[in-house]
Amino acid sequence: MDRTLIVIKPDGVRRNLIGRIVERFEDRGFRIVNLRMLDMRRETAEEFYSPHKDKAFYPDLIEFITSGPVVAIIVEGTSAVQVIRRMIGPTNSLEAPGGTVRGDLGLATTENVVHASDSIESFEREAKILSLTEELPL
Ligand code: CMP
Repeated sequence: MDRTLIVIKPDGVRRNLIGRIVERFEDRGFRIVNLRMLDMRRETAEEFYSPHKDKAFYPDLIEFITSGPVVAIIVEGTSAVQVIRRMIGPTNSLEAPGGTVRGDLGLATTENVVHASDSIESFEREAKILSLTEELPL
């Protein structure tokens, strides 16, 4: 059992896609460990996306991710990192195959509806930045 972090980005929230996105992961057997809506502050966004800080798209990415609330979700399941990455599809929504979140719901490359951690190390780093490490008491 692994855990991973999914972030529904501001475009997904604005377009009222939260329920449909969450449903896909639940339907696939993943357990939701934690889920929270939050506004990423600029410093949080810059830390979250620091691996991309030298890329040309970084300023636009920071503008976009801080443009409205996001929904951060920790899910647990078999090979979560790998399976969830496959379920969300490639970064560019226009190249993402049907059946993936970005292929079915995404409109662009920066505005690509969701983020998901690309490794267990990234999951741990990202969840910590968003203060989402605690499992809620049952
Ligand atoms: P995400 O999976 O959140 O990781 C980095 C984000 O940068 C990516 O999704 C996109 O929203 C954004 N981005 C914009 N342009 C590019 C690009 N050319 N390559 C990768 N990511 C990009």
